[in-house]
Amino acid sequence: MRTFHHIAELRAHLRAAREEGLTIGLVPTMGALHEGHLALVRRAENECDRTVVSIFVNPTQFGPNEDYDRYPRDLARDSRLCEEEGVEALFAPSVEEMYPCVDGVASPRCLTTVHVSELTDRFEGQIRPGHFDGVATVCAKLFQIVQPHRAYFGQKDYQQLLVIQRMVADLNMPLIVVPVATVRDSDGLAMSSRNAYLSAEERMKATVLPRALQTAVSLYEAGERYPEKIERAMQDVLAEETGARVDYAAVVDPLTLAPLETVEHGAVALAAIRIGSTRLIDNMLLGYSLNQHLRRSAGVKG
Ligand code: PAJ
Repeated sequence: MRTFHHIAELRAHLRAAREEGLTIGLVPTMGALHEGHLALVRRAENECDRTVVSIFVNPTQFGPNEDYDRYPRDLARDSRLCEEEGVEALFAPSVEEMYPCVDGVASPRCLTTVHVSELTDRFEGQIRPGHFDGVATVCAKLFQIVQPHRAYFGQKDYQQLLVIQRMVADLNMPLIVVPVATVRDSDGLAMSSRNAYLSAEERMKATVLPRALQTAVSLYEAGERYPEKIERAMQDVLAEETGARVDYAAVVDPLTLAPLETVEHGAVALAAIRIGSTRLIDNMLLGYSLNQHLRRSAGVKG
């Protein structure tokens, strides 16, 4: 595996593969890799000739009072994991490499921003103003740098997945966004780099999040079709854990995240909670599948 810190060197390296007609898969990450990230890597390895994993803790997607400084960073460990998975190229740029100081604009400011509207109005976009502009812009940059045929994103960050799919479609970016199902620990908690912040006690409390979402799935499977009833049941489960503060728990349209009158045609249950100083998000699909997402981003009608 080769590790690249500079855009020009990575581009030169990938040019040869592209000229040979090989397919390139990109897995964008912020590092502190876990089994969730590795599921994306394995999928890319299966579907593409060359896999590039990017590791970049992107400052522009963190708010001023968020965890940018304490976000876990361990490039040596991440490199080892990627090497073991047979990854071909690791891209680990510095902040200055991604956001150079140009014309007096200090890094990490970037005068050009990709803003995806509507989809970003609620949930994470509302609670973390500017977050999705940072995400969309850095992904657009990574897509320009790597020019992958396919890019892999986790269902874990469901709203992010929709935002990236929308950006790729609206800006005619020539790649397929491949969604990958959420990988969970045995207690149901979705794997996340931020789980490292949780104490043993907090970690137990955090399992209320997948339990609430599983309640939504069970109600849907039992035939419940009123979103408010499913939302109330999720809130009831979350309220049982006094150590958890709820940011939102909602059942909405799986493509637009708009409110629904009925979940007849599928929905997504989204929830975010805070345990101590740690913020956790998760989601589960109701009567809708990730394959439908993939068909959509590949431009398949119906
Ligand atoms: P990060 O949180 O490191 O996640 C990188 C990718 O791994 C995302 O697509 C995310 O959805 C996926 N992922 C994380 N946990 C997962 C799990 N338990 N199961 C399946 N997939 C999981 O998301 C980001 O980084 C950043 O916003 C990024 C897209 C890299 C832009 O900076």
